[in-house]
Amino acid sequence: MLMSSVIGHRGARALVAENTLASIRRVAELGGRWVELDVQLSRDGVPFLFHDDQLAPLTGQTGRVGDYDAQQLEQMQVIHGAQPAQPLASLAQALNLCIELGLGLNLELKSDGVQRGAKTLEVCWPMMRDRPELSLVISSFDPEALVVARRLCPAVPRSCLFEALPKNWRDQVDQVAARAIHLDAEPLQAEQVAQIKQLGLEVYCYTVNSLEQGLKLRKWGVQGIFTDAPQLFLDAPEWRSL
Ligand code: G3P
Ligand code: MG
Repeated sequence: MLMSSVIGHRGARALVAENTLASIRRVAELGGRWVELDVQLSRDGVPFLFHDDQLAPLTGQTGRVGDYDAQQLEQMQVIHGAQPAQPLASLAQALNLCIELGLGLNLELKSDGVQRGAKTLEVCWPMMRDRPELSLVISSFDPEALVVARRLCPAVPRSCLFEALPKNWRDQVDQVAARAIHLDAEPLQAEQVAQIKQLGLEVYCYTVNSLEQGLKLRKWGVQGIFTDAPQLFLDAPEWRSL
């Protein structure tokens, strides 16, 4: 299996400010073995963990990650309800922590009209290529980013990310020689999982925050789930005995 059956989505997002070092640490404390983190570039080209296109909802700052230099982003805090705010984390910090904690990393390359996942990977890869102790899976909704991943780091497993499985998913998988597909759990159907697995690919689903839904997906043959609440699964005897 490429990853574990429970993957901390943006860390342990239900418990700690997402995509922060504290959130990564919490996954390890809960007994998790893999985390999924989103990455974007600062204005001066330094990779930081951040999911949203706008900073405001999570940091109170205007604009986007790419509107600020690293030195400014380092001063920002990610809020999470009544929990303590946590500093925005750089990818370099996150890599060191994942290695220290023995966590595998699914790095999601964010792409939109401004951030390009392919460019982000060109910056991130030199930071990761000399860390053989890091278990890594690269994923993106952006096929161009995965094409670049195939060229730049062919030995690192790649996963196509989709909301709903598109008609041409086989072509997209072939184009980047993906080893897995990561799918939104909601629109997914059991037959689709079977079709994907017939081609020898693994299937992981996001974002699964109920044990019942997770157990159903595992019954369908899904290898693992991205969850905001890893403890719901890691502590459940029904899950552990699968
Ligand atoms: O990588 C799985 C999942 O994180 C994809 O959706 O929007 O939470 O990054 P999103
Ligand atoms: Mg993500």
